[in-house]
Amino acid sequence: MCSTPAHSPAESTHSSERCPLTRLARLELLFDHTRGPLVDLPRRLSEVYGPLRLRKSGSPAFVIANFATTLDGVTALLGPGRSSGGEITGFDPRDRILMGILRASADAVVVGAGTLRAVPRHIWSASHVYPKLAWEYDELRRRAGKPPVPLNVFVSSSGELDLRLPVFASGEAPVLIVTTTSGARKLGRAEDLPSVEVAPVQRSGRIPASAVLGAVRATGIRGLVLVEGGPHLMGDFFAEELLDELFLTLAPQVAGRTDPLGRPGLVAGRIFAPDHPRWGSLVGVRRGGSHLFLRWAFRRPVRSSVRRSTGRP
Ligand SMILES: NC(=O)c1ccc[n+]([C@@H]2O[C@H](COP(=O)([O-])OP(=O)(O)OC[C@H]3O[C@@H](n4cnc5c(N)ncnc54)[C@H](OP(=O)(O)O)[C@@H]3O)[C@@H](O)[C@H]2O)c1
Repeated sequence: MCSTPAHSPAESTHSSERCPLTRLARLELLFDHTRGPLVDLPRRLSEVYGPLRLRKSGSPAFVIANFATTLDGVTALLGPGRSSGGEITGFDPRDRILMGILRASADAVVVGAGTLRAVPRHIWSASHVYPKLAWEYDELRRRAGKPPVPLNVFVSSSGELDLRLPVFASGEAPVLIVTTTSGARKLGRAEDLPSVEVAPVQRSGRIPASAVLGAVRATGIRGLVLVEGGPHLMGDFFAEELLDELFLTLAPQVAGRTDPLGRPGLVAGRIFAPDHPRWGSLVGVRRGGSHLFLRWAFRRPVRSSVRRSTGRP
């Protein structure tokens, strides 16, 4: 087995001779129409992924999503202890390494409360998803001049979040909870947690994705925003056409469904086709074993700006 120290003094000490992990995990590049500057990936990450281009963020932020689905479109099994995205990909190491690369490139990672409830002990940092490459992920952030961990953003109308969970209580990640005024009242104890900020953006109800981005922007972040779902939150980003790109891992399993509502797809709670379909353009295809790593660009209508938020309703 490959044994990689969590922190290495220098990248040169990592060689594929010492650790065959990256050779095993390498993705085969089949098609690449991506644009933008090359991300300065540390060697072992680029050995796995190859060249990664991400468009420069500015105003508005560049917004990407990362998801995994089975061949029959299931993104969550939803059984007890079986709700994580890893169950969809079979915990494929290349998928986890890519998740780590995208998190390590992001300034903010946005997830809905349902996703947090599915993996309550998780922290949305690169090293949490693939600890063996923690040093490389840290190095990627250092090279880009980013703080060690991206802002972890949780979206919840209800504010029913357990503040004792590691992501809130450990102080390991800076956290922003985007919620309603009633949700913020339930989260009163968050004031005692130095790494957690609560942004009530409206009185009640579903929060527009534009307001989520506005709250992120109000923290001073102007860079890359990574949306990691779940399906309800993805529906809001697609509905408002606020996604620039989707990274989608297609896992070679058929999961099946008895009730179509019981096992969601990429989007839940919204209907687009046939009246308002969302068509994407394929910009990237990579293969790792029988998994496909796909990348689509979506046209984002030009707006004067995303809805601005002061972080207060
Ligand atoms: N396959 C994959 O790549 C992948 C990726 C992510 C998640 N998942 C899976 O998806 C499942 C969860 O699905 P889900 O659709 O319930 O996830 P979700 O979108 O993360 O959670 C829905 C909940 O998040 C909050 N929320 C989301 N969007 C909101 C908005 N616009 N405004 C206000 N609140 C919002 C609400 O919480 P409140 O009830 O607190 O108001 C809502 O009940 C999990 O099993 C997870 O593992 C799979």
